[in-house]
Amino acid sequence: MTQHQHLLIIDFGSQVTQLIARRLRELNVYCEIHPYQNVTDAFLAEFAPKAVIFSGGPDSVTRDGSPRPPESVYKLGVPILGICYGQQVMMQQLGGMVEGGKITGGGGTAEFGRAFVTPADKPLAILDGWFSEGREQVWMSHGDHVSRLAPGFEVFGTSPNAPYAITADTERNFFAVQFHPEVHHTPNGKKVYENFVKLAGFTGDWTMGAYKDDAIARIREQVGDKKVICGLSGGVDSSVAAVLIHEAIGDQLTCVFVDHGLLRLNEADEVVSMFRDHYNIPLIHADETELFLGELDGVSDPETKRKIIGRLFIDVFQKHANEIEGAEFLAQGTLYPDVIESVSFSGGPSVTIKSHHNVGGLPEKMGLKLVEPLRELFKDEVRALGRELGLPDSFIGRHPFPGPGLAIRCPGEITREKLEILRKADAVYIDQIRKHGLYDDIWQAFVAILPVRTVGVMGDGRTYDYACALRAVTSVDGMTADYFPFSHDFLGETATRIINEVQGINRVTYDITSKPPGTIEWE
Ligand code: XMP
Repeated sequence: MTQHQHLLIIDFGSQVTQLIARRLRELNVYCEIHPYQNVTDAFLAEFAPKAVIFSGGPDSVTRDGSPRPPESVYKLGVPILGICYGQQVMMQQLGGMVEGGKITGGGGTAEFGRAFVTPADKPLAILDGWFSEGREQVWMSHGDHVSRLAPGFEVFGTSPNAPYAITADTERNFFAVQFHPEVHHTPNGKKVYENFVKLAGFTGDWTMGAYKDDAIARIREQVGDKKVICGLSGGVDSSVAAVLIHEAIGDQLTCVFVDHGLLRLNEADEVVSMFRDHYNIPLIHADETELFLGELDGVSDPETKRKIIGRLFIDVFQKHANEIEGAEFLAQGTLYPDVIESVSFSGGPSVTIKSHHNVGGLPEKMGLKLVEPLRELFKDEVRALGRELGLPDSFIGRHPFPGPGLAIRCPGEITREKLEILRKADAVYIDQIRKHGLYDDIWQAFVAILPVRTVGVMGDGRTYDYACALRAVTSVDGMTADYFPFSHDFLGETATRIINEVQGINRVTYDITSKPPGTIEWE
């Protein structure tokens, strides 16, 4: 349990609950999201939050059996902020009334999308800095609405379809709003959280410097004088985890870098020189190119490629880890979004689009205990921690790279020749992006080499070479993405450079598919 002041977010299944946590972390407030089912009286007593936020959610409080927080939350004596469903559940439990509203017909009170809230004539602490222009834009997404306030509550803001858009019981510091302050479309929403945590007495003690010191102390306590193995992929998460653990326990850490021969140009050398030479971290460079490419020979199905790579990765990792005598711990770069238990209303498992490989199952198989020093962090916080640890910005800001590497950027059969061409083309493309100052505006960019040869003419001769596709997307989390709007000049210049500089490619295309319906990678 963290020593920092902490806030509890009770999740009722909103799509945007994680954004609440992001907004709070940006304010240097430590918070945890817990699904409402887990928040029992005992949990609350042990967690002892300094404030509580109820998220939105898709259910209706008017339905029997719909989610509720335990009544004891109202007796903790700490400020509570209810959002959307969270507002409604608070009203219902404290003696108000909520009614259903239909989206169409029947005089419904549903509101979806942008709305404007105007203030009542009395100020409210959480609205400091609001209404300077007489009204505030907010984002609404509700079918039901509060039709009678609970005793002790008053109205502090209204919108055309939500007469109780902002309500509060200022005696008890209970605040309940119908809109979503955490989303981008409530432009001043952050101010609401800022005011709320200030009122609750948070001092903003969640800084990366403090986190780093705590994390180092915790690793030392957990590991003692035992040895730790860390799988290094060259990605940001495992790298930050490795450097942090090394700072905590020095040479008790050994990193295993499984090189499957599917990395980008010079990537393996860069990883090895950075960790072994620059950071002096004991590193096993397992160059298993032959093994991986051998097993992938003739394989063109994307899922089979992933399964082969995943299986071999575990075998190789295990083989080298066994060489490290007395290792008792395995370090993993697990992040907070992987840890948050989500509230599922559909019940059934979601469809697997792509099976991402990881070292799941490995700790049990090898009888190792886990060290996961990034478990409480979001991706951008991992980057901040990396900076705190002195990792270069150019490294921390790198685009994500998939575990199976170039195997899934080489649709169809993988050959050494194609990999070689792909590496060169990708290096030219990324160089172009960097030269034009676009790298940080793009979430991920890469080249895929296509399994077709096309006819071209260069000089006076006919060519019959590979076609490639350039991909560049903007995204927040990789779940959805849009293609990056390069200028025609940029595309033209890049195509010319690739064709001139990379032997084996005579045609360049740009992929303008968004996700969905496409995926970011080609396989
Ligand atoms: P897709 O292609 O599913 O990619 O839109 C979303 C993000 O995930 C990465 N990706 C993978 N990462 N193993 C990984 O570790 C995989 O098998 C894998 N497939 C896709 C992809 O690069 C993008 O960032």
